[in-house]
Amino acid sequence: MIVDAQRTLPWDWYPGTIPANVLLEDGSYLESTFSFQLYRSEAPLGVRLGHGASAYLGTMFDVGPRGRVTIGDYALVNGARIVCDEAVEIGDYALISWNVVLMDTYRLPFDPNARRSELEELPRRRPRPCLGAGEARPVRVGRNVWIGFDACVLPGVTIGEGAIVGARSVVRADVPAFTVVAGNPARVIRRLDERESAKPHGD
Ligand SMILES: CC(C)(COP(=O)(O)OP(=O)(O)OC[C@H]1O[C@@H](n2cnc3c(N)ncnc32)[C@H](O)[C@@H]1OP(=O)(O)O)[C@@H](O)C(=O)NCCC(=O)NCCS
Repeated sequence: MIVDAQRTLPWDWYPGTIPANVLLEDGSYLESTFSFQLYRSEAPLGVRLGHGASAYLGTMFDVGPRGRVTIGDYALVNGARIVCDEAVEIGDYALISWNVVLMDTYRLPFDPNARRSELEELPRRRPRPCLGAGEARPVRVGRNVWIGFDACVLPGVTIGEGAIVGARSVVRADVPAFTVVAGNPARVIRRLDERESAKPHGD
């Protein structure tokens, strides 16, 4: 993508910049730098948007200091929230619909007293909205996966190549390649023909 020396986007409505450790490959498209409003990654490469990939309006990179997000070539992220303290990987040609949440961490402790302490700490924190980092387990979305709107993918989940996740599903376990899963918790509702799915376009 063509980015000017100031690392701004000519069409952007938000007066932000693209962080220095974000790589936008040729042919990729980022709709707005607002996507980086919650971005705090200090990793050498915090986000990579692959060749021809798109991150449309509403996509939020809520990435902690050690977080790394990779979005594969020609993948399309249409307004998802990516909560990442370690690694979130989205494969080539994956299609992530609106309001999807991909999270590799819950960020908050399960113990109610510890949560209360976190909230009491918040007024003293700068920047204010950042909550503490928790244990993180990478999320991996395979090549050519399609995730329907409002779905939520929880820490540690791997979604296999070519799988489809139904709208509003909560995915808490790995999804086998070339299957359709749906519901809360997401369960396999159908298997896809792997040979058909893997055919080159136009055959
Ligand atoms: C997952 C999906 C692709 C499945 O489509 P399908 O194969 O035609 O599935 P069917 O409608 O035949 O339903 C099969 C079963 O799965 C259930 N099911 C389907 N989608 C579901 C969903 N999102 N959540 C819960 N259950 C679902 C159906 O109730 C049905 O259950 P039953 O056999 O007990 O009656 C589709 O339902 C879906 O959610 N699409 C997402 C659309 C979207 O997000 N578009 C955004 C544009 S990118």
